[in-house]
Amino acid sequence: MGTAEITKPQDRLAAWMTTDMEAVNGLIRDRMASKHAPRIPEVTRHLVDAGGKRLRPMLTLAAAHMCGYDGPYHIHLAATVEFIHTATLLHDDVVDESAQRRGRPTANLLWDNKSSVLVGDYLFSRSFQLMTETGSLDVLRILSDASATIAEGEVLQMTAARDLATDEGVYLQVVRGKTAALFSAATEVGGVIAGADAATVRAFYDYGDALGIAFQIVDDLLDYQGQSAATGKNVGDDFRERKLTLPVIKAVAKADEEERAFWTRTIEKGRQEDGDLDHALELLNRHGALEATRLDAVAWSDKAKAALAPLPEHELRTILIDLADYVVERIN
Ligand code: IPE
Ligand code: IPE
Ligand code: MG
Ligand code: MG
Repeated sequence: MGTAEITKPQDRLAAWMTTDMEAVNGLIRDRMASKHAPRIPEVTRHLVDAGGKRLRPMLTLAAAHMCGYDGPYHIHLAATVEFIHTATLLHDDVVDESAQRRGRPTANLLWDNKSSVLVGDYLFSRSFQLMTETGSLDVLRILSDASATIAEGEVLQMTAARDLATDEGVYLQVVRGKTAALFSAATEVGGVIAGADAATVRAFYDYGDALGIAFQIVDDLLDYQGQSAATGKNVGDDFRERKLTLPVIKAVAKADEEERAFWTRTIEKGRQEDGDLDHALELLNRHGALEATRLDAVAWSDKAKAALAPLPEHELRTILIDLADYVVERIN
């Protein structure tokens, strides 16, 4: 164990930038404080101490290093990105009525929805304070655009949920918004803060976009075929929430009359009974919907890798390419 071949790319990324990540975590800890409202650090600490993969901040740091950056602000940007991520998780678990996150009960369950929404708002605002310290208007534009796009994706998903007419085009729009927008902003600002040329910045954007889409497609697959112990989240949440994720969209497209009636009852009308999740899984398998979804994720992962191909050779480039493979492999 511990050889480069069997170490996860995200662990290699973490090992490469241990010092940077210590600074990022220190900054996060520092800025999540609140003099006047103790509820804020309580809720935030619950989520931050549970860890999380810290993928997005590491992507920012990696992009900056690959572009030869030697200033201090990649740390601020990485912390900003993780703050935005943390805020969206707090809000997302309220919207999804989720009970488990990072292997712990969610903040909305332990405290209440009000705390999650308001502390999420606080973290969003803190993230904006942090990024203004970089003094870069480009960075401000990219990250504030991303925040708007994330919210837009979540709202689009909410209105598309429970609607069997939702197609793969709408699904792509949703995942690009709610998930990929932060991945692409994370990598893009790394290049921008380093003053990289337009083609390089574009390559980082494209990598983050495709990686984020692959990541979310896999997350949606794991919601049906993952293990709660591994994902730290409850399996079957999407079905219970009646979300039209890619596996279901593919199965609905192939449904016969009887199957369609099942999807209408469970997803559209929400009249779910014991055993429905198992039956849904059986239908997903019957039509090869899980495998087809996995192949879509592989195609996006390939796109992510292709985006980095023109960049100069760098140890971090190799790790990011491996990360694109790993994001898809974590299904197995
Ligand atoms: C969870 O993201 C939200 C999704 C986009 C699926 P991560 O899986 O990166 O969450 P943490 O930060 O590692 O907990
Ligand atoms: C994740 O959405 C995207 C955001 C947090 C904005 P999901 O609802 O699919 O993610 P999980 O499964 O709760 O992590
Ligand atoms: Mg959720
Ligand atoms: Mg959600």
